[in-house]
Amino acid sequence: MVLDSKRPLHCLAAILLLLVSVQTSLSDPRIGNGNSKSEVFLSPKFVMEPGSVSNKYYYNVDFPKGHIAIKSFNAEVVDEKGNPIPLHETYLHHWIVLRYHQRKDTADSGAHQGDLGFLQSDHIVVKNSGMCDAGLSQYFGLGSETRKTSTDVPDPYGIEVGNPADVAADGYEERWMLNVHAIDTRGAEDKMGCTECRCDLYNMTVDGGNYNGGLRCCHDGAKCRVEKGFEGGVETSRRSLYLRYTVEYIDWEESIVPVRIYILDVTDIWTKADESRGIAARHRCLIEYNVESCSAGGSHDSCTHTKTLSVSLPTGGDVIYGVGHQHAGGSGTALYGEGGRLICSSNPTYGTGKEPGNEAGYIVGMSTCYPSPGSVKISDGETLTLVSNYSSTQTHTGVMGLFYLLVSDSSPERDNLVQSYPAQENHKSSTKSNFNWGFVLFGVGLVSVVVSALSIAVVSLLRGTSGRRNEGYEPIIA
Ligand SMILES: *[C@@H]1O[C@H](CO)[C@@H](O)[C@H](O)[C@H]1NC(C)=O
Ligand SMILES: *[C@@H]1O[C@H](CO)[C@@H](O)[C@H](O)[C@H]1NC(C)=O
Repeated sequence: MVLDSKRPLHCLAAILLLLVSVQTSLSDPRIGNGNSKSEVFLSPKFVMEPGSVSNKYYYNVDFPKGHIAIKSFNAEVVDEKGNPIPLHETYLHHWIVLRYHQRKDTADSGAHQGDLGFLQSDHIVVKNSGMCDAGLSQYFGLGSETRKTSTDVPDPYGIEVGNPADVAADGYEERWMLNVHAIDTRGAEDKMGCTECRCDLYNMTVDGGNYNGGLRCCHDGAKCRVEKGFEGGVETSRRSLYLRYTVEYIDWEESIVPVRIYILDVTDIWTKADESRGIAARHRCLIEYNVESCSAGGSHDSCTHTKTLSVSLPTGGDVIYGVGHQHAGGSGTALYGEGGRLICSSNPTYGTGKEPGNEAGYIVGMSTCYPSPGSVKISDGETLTLVSNYSSTQTHTGVMGLFYLLVSDSSPERDNLVQSYPAQENHKSSTKSNFNWGFVLFGVGLVSVVVSALSIAVVSLLRGTSGRRNEGYEPIIA
């Protein structure tokens, strides 16, 4: 897109942003979009001060009720006035949403903060479809990239929840747990080191010093080193924050096609099943790993650290959506099928400014894949290869290489549909900003056509002028 001057577009961007905020501040919690509904919730508050870490588990959080299909789940950290907080002030290490069933007559473990207490029979975690034996059983979850990562599930698919028939036993009900891990890096001596949970900055020694960094050094209540003047949690800089999350969903109908959620972890230590000896497959997922600096020995070629996992997906189907998760330093993830065919690649977008959603040096978005239904298939038991690349020009601790996949059972009908429309792109990517424009556009009638054209222009502008943006990228305007 060639534009003579960027100035008018900045104005347009401002107007569009205004429209978004007007729409949001009307705060009708249910913004209809066709037959879809959208509800906005706030997590319980967490109080942060320079250097502090909050890693809390909130049980029975607000969530849409009933038998529904979730179409998207978006979140961001805001203050008491609802202002978005940038990552360079409060880094959102991750948030995770876990589904569970709990006995109705038992007191909620709402006060329970710390390790997951799911061993009691009052709770039954409803895990996603895999693959890890422990951990990563969430339905939704992202980190710093949450503002610019599209999470919408395309029609006719949906993540089915709240079906009373699925509740494990009589007397139980479905609830949701939210885990938010945030690190306040205001005044930090080394912001990036604090976000990477480097043990020395947290004044911690783990495993006799053999563990350099990761979640064990930035547990709830830990404190990252700050500069003089920020020590002791200056009263005025202490503030209450929230995770504001928006769930878009539709009431369940027969025409919705349910999807399975898989989360692949590049650190997975996979032990194949041995049916002859009755041994089930095991997946020990370490979740985090470290990247050694290329100058500190090891391989020197181009200072890219590549980590690879081969793992078999027990039940395949049609890939509906894919997205990777990486931390700062990440330079791309990709998932391949047998024979090396690309299933989905997901690459980080780094911020270039200061404002929320565009913080320089942070991953503010991950590209996503929306193969046209039926065009990208995984067969049952197929061995997949996950690749996670990081720049190794410097050391990184506690990084991740996850891949979140939505897969539906294959349907011959949808396959026929694909054959009759072969021109559709196999891989589309978008950023969430496109999706939010959809809310703005809804109900605006004729004006919406104009606005959508402009929003595409603005989004393109916001994405920068990289010539690659049009290759395989297609905005989704709802
Ligand atoms: C770090 O730990 C040392 C030894 O336990 C202690 O003397 C020092 O005060 C700690 N520093 C901070 C900033 O907590
Ligand atoms: C990872 O890095 C290797 C080596 O530089 C490169 O060949 C490969 O294409 C990269 N893959 C991804 C997914 O970025």
